[in-house]
Amino acid sequence: MKHQQKILILDFGSQYTQLIARRIRESKVYSEIHPSTYPISKIKESLPQGIILSGGPMSVYDEGAPNISKEIFELGVPVLGICYGLQLIASHYDGRVEQAQNREYGKVHLEISNSDLLLDGVENNSIVWMSHGDLITRLPSGFIVTANTENTPVCSISNSDKNIYGLQFHPEVAHTRQGMKIINNFLFKICKCKPDWTPENFIHSTVEEVKTKIGNKKAICALSGGVDSSVAAILISKAIGDNLICIHVDTGLMRKNESEKIIKMFEANYKLNVTSINASELFLSKLKNIIDPEIKRKIIGNTFIEVFEKEAGKYKDIEFLIQGTLYPDVIESVTVKGASSTIKTHHNVGGLPEKMNLKLIEPFRELFKDEVRMIGYELGLPEIFIKRHPFPGPGLAVRVLGEITEERLEILREADEIFIDELHADNIYDKIWQAFAVLLPVQSVGVMGDSRTYENVLALRAVTSTDGMTADWYRFDNSFLEKVSNRIIRNVRGVNRVVYDISSKPPSTIEWE
Ligand code: XMP
Repeated sequence: MKHQQKILILDFGSQYTQLIARRIRESKVYSEIHPSTYPISKIKESLPQGIILSGGPMSVYDEGAPNISKEIFELGVPVLGICYGLQLIASHYDGRVEQAQNREYGKVHLEISNSDLLLDGVENNSIVWMSHGDLITRLPSGFIVTANTENTPVCSISNSDKNIYGLQFHPEVAHTRQGMKIINNFLFKICKCKPDWTPENFIHSTVEEVKTKIGNKKAICALSGGVDSSVAAILISKAIGDNLICIHVDTGLMRKNESEKIIKMFEANYKLNVTSINASELFLSKLKNIIDPEIKRKIIGNTFIEVFEKEAGKYKDIEFLIQGTLYPDVIESVTVKGASSTIKTHHNVGGLPEKMNLKLIEPFRELFKDEVRMIGYELGLPEIFIKRHPFPGPGLAVRVLGEITEERLEILREADEIFIDELHADNIYDKIWQAFAVLLPVQSVGVMGDSRTYENVLALRAVTSTDGMTADWYRFDNSFLEKVSNRIIRNVRGVNRVVYDISSKPPSTIEWE
């Protein structure tokens, strides 16, 4: 997508780099992350309104520490260095960076000695968040110190002639009380950005661009019913109408009545060209006797492609495939990507474009999940739909542990529905990242009436998280757990015991398989 204005963030490996990008976008300015090795020629080409050098785990004096070309400072574009970025600026301008005697981690108070545009309006003594063991012991030439903390004499510097600024602390983290003020000062007072990165503008420019790209040709998309694919389909159909063919594959691994609900919601609200295929028998027959979670995922991924390809084959002249890929999957970040992808191969329809010789269109390649939700709101998707918890591609297959049968899926669906229903009834659904039931391949003894039972154990899982990479178990009131457990055992045949999962991620994962 084309943008008038952007802030370029060069990533030196900080765990907060994505957060910087998100904060900037919250202020309605578009921002992009690139590795610190991004060539200077590309930086010039992209005409950024400002450049941010991120933090990073190394020390600038380490052998092999990442660096940048000094040309960056001579482009006439404002630069802000954060933590490692500040130290890099110092090392380029004859400053000295050394290991601190008294390291400062966490919350400290900022003492402003010389307010500049960057710190304009920031209260003296406000709390900022530090996270590095190095500090500047000789001021870079041409710079002045604008603030210090108890143990960091050079905590913020500026060179207003060259428009170069540096902060030792992290304005992007929520613990830095006036971090947004500082970021906004950089964006609007220093870089003179316009706040025009809004859902309406995004929708408008994407629709125009897709119209030009696809023209009168046809595109296809897999409509899973998840937020990303749904919002993508609605957006693209705004541009090409009926030439977008949406295929919904009911794998038989969805929650109770889910496929029907999704199709109904689209029929009621949008004029999408949707074909729904019930392939549950095929999926279940292929999954018969399969226990290994990775083999389950592989079978589901391949079967999905098989079904989708067959259906798509019925249409002529399809040239494009629409996918709801998000920015975090695209960023070529210095930080190691989430370990979960190597622990579990996440199912997606990645093999499709090459196999079917389709050109890929990914309208959300530059968006974070919350931005896609905003686009969804703007396109009129119901709130209850947008706020749904994430659901894994392989669906209930990874929540029926062990062998998957229709009967076991049915038990899980009933129990899961009760759990989710109670979360809504108590108004806690939105406080939780993901909640679901898991059917264990374990039977236990119980007593119902005067008879002995020997039936399934069901686990409940509910976690809080911000991105699914780490998670903590949700602390329910005991009375809530009691209510859900009783309702499930009374109403779901085949379950005589309910347990609650109190593991965090890591070391556990969110799903059980
Ligand atoms: P884990 O279980 O790895 O899950 O902690 C992290 C997030 O990813 C979802 N998940 C998947 N999503 N295909 C998906 O599309 C998968 O195979 C898959 N496995 C896990 C999980 O629901 C959670 O939101």
